[in-house]
Order: sequence, then C-alpha cells, then structure tokens
Amino acid sequence: MAIEKVGVVGCGLMGSGIAQVCATAGFTTTVSEVDDKRLQAGLERIGAQLARSVEKGKLRDNDKAAILARLHGTTRLTDLAACDVVIEAATENLEAKKQVFVTLDGILAKHALLASNTSSLTIVELAAATQRPDRVLGLHFFNPVPVMKLVEVVRTIVTSDAAFAAARQFVVALGKDVVEAKDTTGFVVNRLLVPYMLDAVRCYEQGLASKEDIDRGMKLGCGYPMGPFELLDFVGLDTTLYIAEIMFEEFREPRFAPPSLLRRMVLAGHLGKKSGRGFYDYR
Ligand code: 3HC
Repeated sequence: MAIEKVGVVGCGLMGSGIAQVCATAGFTTTVSEVDDKRLQAGLERIGAQLARSVEKGKLRDNDKAAILARLHGTTRLTDLAACDVVIEAATENLEAKKQVFVTLDGILAKHALLASNTSSLTIVELAAATQRPDRVLGLHFFNPVPVMKLVEVVRTIVTSDAAFAAARQFVVALGKDVVEAKDTTGFVVNRLLVPYMLDAVRCYEQGLASKEDIDRGMKLGCGYPMGPFELLDFVGLDTTLYIAEIMFEEFREPRFAPPSLLRRMVLAGHLGKKSGRGFYDYR
C-alpha cells in the first residue's frame, strides 16, 4: 500500500512534531486542530523549529519553503478525507479519541490506516469503535519528535499483517527507527520509563538525596541526557501521573502507583516546563 498523503489530528507538542517530520520526509501532510488559535500556535511552532534549523545551517531556506508548502492546517476533520494514513495525536482522553476515530472511519477511503500516538490507552479499544479494526494500530512517537529516533509500532490482536507492514514501512520512510510492540499499556518504553521516574520521586520523597544530585547521578553515572526530574518536567507531571494511573489500573503493581508528591504537585499546578514550574523553576 503506497502512502502519499498523511493526516495528523492535533497540533500540540506531539502533533506538531509529527506533522513536521511527515512534511520533512516528503509527505503531503494535513494537520487538524479543534480551533484556529491552537492550529496557528502549532503551525508557528513548526515554522520556528524549521527556522532554527535554517539558522544552524542544517536546512536550506528553499527546503524549508518546500516543507511548509507540503504542510496544510485545518480545523475540519473532513479535510483529512484523502489521507492514506491518519495519526491521531489529540488529548489523551479515551472518549475524545474514540470520537475522532469514528468520524475519521466514516470519511477515509477503505484502504486508509488509522493510527494513534497514545502513550497509555489500549489501541484495540479505539479499533473496536471503527469498521476497520484490522487497519488500526499505534504509532507512538517520542518527545521532541523531530529529534527522537524511535517510533513504537503497536499491533493489536486484530491488526492485519498488511496494515502493520505498511505502517512499519511508513515509519522507516520518516527516517525513524522502529520497535515493534504489542498493545499492552505503556508498550515497551513507558513500561520501563514510567516506574523509573516514579521511583525517582519516591527516592526524593524519602530523602535519599536532593533532586539535583539524583539527576546528576543518573546523567553522569548512566549517561542519560536528562535526569529523572528534568525528564519529568519535560514530559509533564500531569502527563506522567495520567499514564501512571492507567498503568496501575492495568497491572495493579505498586511500582506503577503514583507517589503522593507527584499527585500533590499536579494539584498545585506544578506541571513542569509547560507551566513554568515543576521540580525545577523555569519562570
Ligand atoms: N524540538 C525540536 N528539536 C529540539 C527540541 C525540541 N523541543 N529540543 C532540542 N531540540 C534539538 C536541538 O535543536 C538540537 O538540534 P541540533 O543537534 O540539530 O542542533 C538537538 O535537539 C539537541 O538540543 P540541545 O543541544 O539544545 O540540547 P540537548 O543536547 O540537551 O538535547 C534533548 C535536548 C534532545 C531534549 C535531550 O536532552 C534528550 O534527549 N532528552 C531526553 C528526551 C527523552 O527522553 N524523551 C522521551 C520522553 S518520553 C516520551 O516522549 C513518551 C511519552 O509517551 C511520555
């Protein structure tokens, strides 16, 4: 199956990154948002990222213009009708995602693939809401999308071999590396990463060391680019709490249980970089 036209639902941090990567790889890309304000903010983020690459001499000005010419923004899902694959990167809310899947299922061509960038929800539940469950799968990108090389390609118990192979080939065409994963909460990376971050919070809560030293320890001792608290602030404390709650619900293992400090910080609005304050102060 040849993929030429790509749709992305959601132009937030992940959606804009995915749209940027798709348009950069040569695909005609249409990205949708719920309103014009969010759409413009997302498109501006992409423009700024590409401009930075031009400034650094990593992208030519005419290549930037060609990427932007392949990229279209819309506030109507119906404008994605001609896409061969649509990647949903909307808010991490099952009902909202299901609604998007039902709508897209009704307007896309029969051959089109429907993918979700969800980091924690069960893909087969989205598949079951459509009339094309064999062509629904997970494409889990990592933040920042233009930089991180990995995409987890997630197959459900009903994804067809043909759909999976087409999705895999598409991800390779994006210049990313593939890890194949089963449709189990957290897939591969979050299954290991989330308990690690939660454990770091527990260590800090118990007074093992300062957060700065825990971060330095993991960076200098293990060569990680960010320490766990820097990473928590980067991913978002609310996002991590949400994923942890879903994983705890699924596995009922204490290592997935969100520590009380994490919950309280989210309640206080200390969500990390995006709110100006998390474990560190960015104001
Ligand atoms: N968007 C696009 N590009 C970015 C970026 C962003 N937000 N942040 C940094 N970059 C680019 C820079 O432009 C630079 O590009 P260049 O090499 O072409 O000049 C390159 O990344 C390196 O950036 P910097 O030199 O500014 O900074 P660092 O060397 O500190 O790298 C980092 C920044 C790439 C974010 C690095 O710290 C890192 O890899 N951190 C770990 C990120 C990580 O673990 N992500 C996964 C999170 S988990 C997830 O997404 C799953 C979800 O389900 C929760």
